Amino acid sequence: MLEVRALKKCYGNVVAVDGVSLRAGVGENIGLLGPNGAGKTTTVSIIAGLLRPDSGVVTIEGRPLAGDADPVKRQIGLVPQDLALFDELPAMANLQLFAALYDLDGAPARRAIGEALDLVGLSDRARDKVRDFSGGMKRRLNLAAALLHDPRILLLDEPTVGVDPQSRNAIFDNLETLKQRGKTLLYTTHYMEEAERLCDRVVIIDHGKVIADDTLPGLYRLLPVTNLLAIELENGDDGLLLEPLQSLPGVRSAERRGGTLRVGVRDLAAETPRVLQWLVDQGHPYRHVVSERADLETVFLNLTGRSLRDA
Ligand SMILES: Nc1ncnc2c1ncn2[C@@H]1O[C@H](COP(=O)(O)OP(=O)(O)OP(=O)(O)O)[C@@H](O)[C@H]1O
Ligand SMILES: [Mg+2]
Repeated sequence: MLEVRALKKCYGNVVAVDGVSLRAGVGENIGLLGPNGAGKTTTVSIIAGLLRPDSGVVTIEGRPLAGDADPVKRQIGLVPQDLALFDELPAMANLQLFAALYDLDGAPARRAIGEALDLVGLSDRARDKVRDFSGGMKRRLNLAAALLHDPRILLLDEPTVGVDPQSRNAIFDNLETLKQRGKTLLYTTHYMEEAERLCDRVVIIDHGKVIADDTLPGLYRLLPVTNLLAIELENGDDGLLLEPLQSLPGVRSAERRGGTLRVGVRDLAAETPRVLQWLVDQGHPYRHVVSERADLETVFLNLTGRSLRDA
């Protein structure tokens, strides 16, 4: 559906995007994850035809996108990072303006606006000025504005920034509905929990370069340890020796924190029974076991040596 090949964009000496390639199939939800300044907005702006790359191509269903006036652009809806709304106008008037930009008027415009307001749950606020909306409501209206021309590809640039948890969940629900309707979504965020919840595949970018592009399970396989077993021992620190535990097949790490043993394993299903049986055999009964999965933060840390949040 959407393919980006070797995009490059510099601002003076700053290389904002440095050879980014990615693809998104029909109905796929791709997360573009990276720290502040990684090049997410620049990439999305190029795909939306708002910025010309220095080199590289964007194709929609195999056809290259040739700048802002290309009719292929109608296939794309952009939810910009910076809100593009008129505060002094009611929500309805804002959407009418966006509809007019896409040459929609009369009954088709009214229907498109009605459906978009309905999807984002703002039908009963259509006559209120945007000025009086909460941050979350503005974000939802920003999303509605991108849907009026019924694009097949939706580019969402940090659609949940500055939004309260309730509105955030509402936006997630909206995105899940759009995905079910077969829309292709490209979703930028620096919140890894969002990428984990919403995306089929995650492209991680850093300093303008793609450093990983895979499904979540694929990304977790990059890690030496993908699961942690936290085992609360019945008798606390009862002289358990870590070395023999560490040398069990499949065990990658073992440490003890107070009465809790933390064991890193690669394959939870295969290795958990072995670890637990070993503990029983060695006379270390346990009372509670939980498993923790590595997250995208760990993947980013592993790839770059830096944390995603303060990169
Ligand atoms: N108009 C511009 N002029 C000069 N430099 C720019 C411009 N826009 C972006 N940059 C620079 O390009 C790099 C990439 O910026 P971009 O906005 O694409 O990052 P981002 O991943 O979207 O970051 P954020 O998470 O903060 O939104 C940064 O170093 C930024 O300072
Ligand atoms: Mg950005």
